[in-house]
This record gives sequence, C-alpha cells and structure tokens, in this order.
Amino acid sequence: MAFYVTTPIYYVNAAPHLGHAYSTIGADILARHHRQRGEEVFFLTGTDEHGEPVALAAEREGVTPKELADRNAHRFEALMPRINASNDFFIRTSDPRHKQRVQDFMQRVYDNGHVYKGLYEGWYCPRCADFKSESEIAEGNTCPIHRIPLDHEQEENWFFRLSTFQAPLEQLYAQQDDFVLPRQRFNEARSFITGGLNDISLSRAKISWGVDVPWDPEHVFYVWFDALLNYYTALSFGAGDGDRTEELWPCDLHVMGKDILKFHAVIWPAMLLAAGVALPRHLFIHGYLLLDGEKMSKSLGNVLDPFEVMDRYGTDALRYYCFREVSFGQDGAVSTAGFESRYETELANDYGNLASRTLAMIVRYRDGQVPFADADPALAPDFDGIAEEISELLDRAEITQALERIWQRVRRLNRYVEEQAPWQLAKDPAQADRLDTVLRSLADGLRVVTVLLHPYMPETTERLMRALAQEGDSLHIAAARYGVATVGVTVSRLDPPLFPKQT
Ligand code: MSP
Repeated sequence: MAFYVTTPIYYVNAAPHLGHAYSTIGADILARHHRQRGEEVFFLTGTDEHGEPVALAAEREGVTPKELADRNAHRFEALMPRINASNDFFIRTSDPRHKQRVQDFMQRVYDNGHVYKGLYEGWYCPRCADFKSESEIAEGNTCPIHRIPLDHEQEENWFFRLSTFQAPLEQLYAQQDDFVLPRQRFNEARSFITGGLNDISLSRAKISWGVDVPWDPEHVFYVWFDALLNYYTALSFGAGDGDRTEELWPCDLHVMGKDILKFHAVIWPAMLLAAGVALPRHLFIHGYLLLDGEKMSKSLGNVLDPFEVMDRYGTDALRYYCFREVSFGQDGAVSTAGFESRYETELANDYGNLASRTLAMIVRYRDGQVPFADADPALAPDFDGIAEEISELLDRAEITQALERIWQRVRRLNRYVEEQAPWQLAKDPAQADRLDTVLRSLADGLRVVTVLLHPYMPETTERLMRALAQEGDSLHIAAARYGVATVGVTVSRLDPPLFPKQT
C-alpha cells in the first residue's frame, strides 16, 4: 500500500515563516505515521514560483523573477531538513520538466473542449493572484486577506469552462462526504459550488513570468493552473526511477490552509475531470496560526521566525507546540509565552521528567536492566487498543486529537509513578517483586507512548528509544502495544534530559 501526501507549494515572494512550517509539519506527521504502518509513502512539498506575486516582488527588489525565485526557493528547501520534514521530493514549478507536463495536461483540457477565448473584466488581487467574485471583495474594493486595493482588470483571456463542472462537482460532494475534511470546510466548499460556478480565466496576457500556453504563446497560464498541477507532474519525474504516476496517483491527501480551499476543493477537481484524470481522495484544510490576534502573514508583518525558535528550543519542541496549542483544522493563537509554558509543563515536566526518572530508577535500583516481570495489569485498560485508536484519528488527519490521547497516557504514567512510589518500594526488600513489576511497566508504557509520539517529535523519540535499548522495528506502529517488549534490556540514563530547562 502506498500513501501519497502533499503540502501546498509555497510562494517564493518572501522568506518562509511559521505559517509555512505549519502546513509542512502537519503533512510530515502524517507521512511519518504512515511509514510507521509499513506503508510506502511519497511526501511532496515545494515552491510555487510563477505569477504576479513573484514578478511584483522581484520588481520591487530590482532583480529578475528567476533570481528572486532561486534565492527564496533555496530558503524553503533549507527549511525542510531544519524542521525535520521527511519529504521525498521538493518540486519547483520553474523546473522545465514540470512546465512541459503542465503544457501537456492543459493541451488535453483544451483538446477536450473545455477552453475558449473571452474578455475578462473584474477585480483582481495581485497578491492572491486571484480574481475576486462579488462576495470576496471587502469594503472600498479591497482584498479581505491582504487589505490592499484590488485592481480592475480588463483583458482578453483564455477561459476554463468551470461552469460545466457544476453538476459533476455536486455529485462528487453528494457521494463522498469526506472528500474535504474537516466537516465545516466540506460544507463551505459545497455551498460555494451550489451557489453557482462561473467560468474562470485560465491565462494572462500581460505577464511573461509563467508557463507558455502551448496553443497561444502570447499567453502564460494563470499561476494557479500551473501550481495545482505540481501534485500531478511531480510523480512523472520526482518520485524515483521513471514515471510513477500510474502507481501513485490519485493522491491520498492534500494538506493546506483555509485560504486556498476554493482552488483545491473546486477548481482542482474540475481541472482533473476536464483532463479525464482521477480525483484526489481527500483534502485536509487547516486554520491559521494567529499572532497578536491576526493571521500571521508576511504582508501584515506579524510573523514568528521558526528558525529563532528552533535555535533556542529545538525542532521537536516547535513541532509539538504548533499541534498541541492549535487544534489542527481550526484557527488558534500562538505566542512566545504560550510556547514557553508548554515547554516547561508538558515537554520538560510531563514527558521529559517521566523519561528521566523511569530510566534513572532502573539504573539505580536494577543496574539498568529492565526486570523480567509481567507488566502490571493495572495499566492495561489505559493502553489496550491505543495503536488502533491513534491510527484511526490520524486517518482523518486529526493530529491534535491524537496527540491529546497520547498525552493522556503520558499523564497516566506519571500518576502511576506517584501512586506506586518506587522509591518507597526500594527501601523494603520484601517489595522487590513489586518494584520489578512497577519498573518494567513504566519502561514499557514509556516505550509505547514514545512510539506513538515519534511522528510528532522524531529526534527526541529516537534518542529515547536508544536509551531504552530498543532497536530494529521498534518504531513500527505494531510495537505500540503495552506489555509485549522491553524486559531484560539494559537501559541508560538521559544526560542531558530530553528537554533541558531554559534559563
Ligand atoms: N502558492 C500558494 C499555494 C499553491 S498550492 C498548489 C500559496 N502559497 S503561500 O506561501 O501563500 O501559502 C502556503 C500555505 O501556507 C497555505 O496553505 C497557507 O494557508 C499557509 N499559511 C500561510 N500563513 C499561515 C498562517 N499564518 N497560519 C497557518 N497557515 C498559513 O498559497
């Protein structure tokens, strides 16, 4: 079984910020989870390099669009290993192989009769690279997202017959109620469709930074057509040896923020239908990270630099925080104070401390060897079926809920330490067997939560698994079963702790 997951491709008109890292880490958690299930995973991310937003930014900086794209694409590419994204390929839409395939695909759409020439007149946001409908225009003809004046455009363009896909799209939404997740976004997309679809402009004549329209080279494709196609074109040249489209398409999951719902939930399936290509299985739409009460964005200037946070606290702490603080799928505020508080109370105290004291007690009382004892049945009800429970949640991309369920077990193990007070048992030789049971159960419970936390915090969990002397397939999801492993191995202390106290 293969699992194909994507992030949006990022505009190269500015440097990456935490909002971009967020989409990528979300997709990465799911990719890593599916690898744990033994599935073959293809995880794609990249940069969206054409179109007006990039051309305008380049003009402002006095460089060519290609120079700006190269500079910023490298920053996004460098962000990936830094946030520990396990992407299998990084696509850049300026890649000639992508451009060629966009032309091939769009030629098919044209040959199938879904394109015509017409006059476009209306309001356009150069930052969104989007033509706005009546309901999307804010007061004074401004963009509600970027709060800049919209341009009134009139030009002769090629049009895509989006309106003819109204009925097929309504049918898609009637038949597949998990096509878009979560539910609220599904409803939004569906009402957009039932509200009536107008044909949309497919090309621009005024811009030259883009993919040439093969049947009319005076035009380049409107950037969204070129961008959305990255999900499809990448498989023909970026997925290993040869063209792997047949094997990996349709995509299992596109992850993205709510600002680009319409493009993915309406235009993208219509384009695929127009070319006779299968539709992706699911889209997951996340909310915004808010800073000072507003969407974190380069145009509003309120961005948190993910590099600074990671330099100080490490990558895993950032990965954990974003998905713990903000429920994946909803908007939520992030702040330095909130980050520091969760770092202390949850990472350093709940999890870090559980790990440190479990290992330290095994070293102190049993020379590091996990005792040959049965696992305490008292913990079994808390752990039974946990791997299935987490997998089911992550199948619906419920990353925050799954993390909460895992954390309930972390807390349960801490309560167990307090209830059992192994330091008291150690004082009484008559309690040696009981101490064996407690230490072995703690080691095993710790191992199980660590397997499940692995997609969230890959570095920390690998380090802890080494300290727990776990090797081989120990991170496979099947290993997340309480009472099946750990006995007899020699563990080691954690020095420094997993999440050192910050001064
Ligand atoms: N290039 C388009 C996507 C094309 S996909 C075929 C684009 N790029 S973007 O760089 O502006 O944004 C990419 C993603 O980052 C979007 O999913 C967007 O929602 C996400 N985020 C940007 N700022 C964000 C927050 N403040 N919070 C959460 N996600 C945000 O759109």
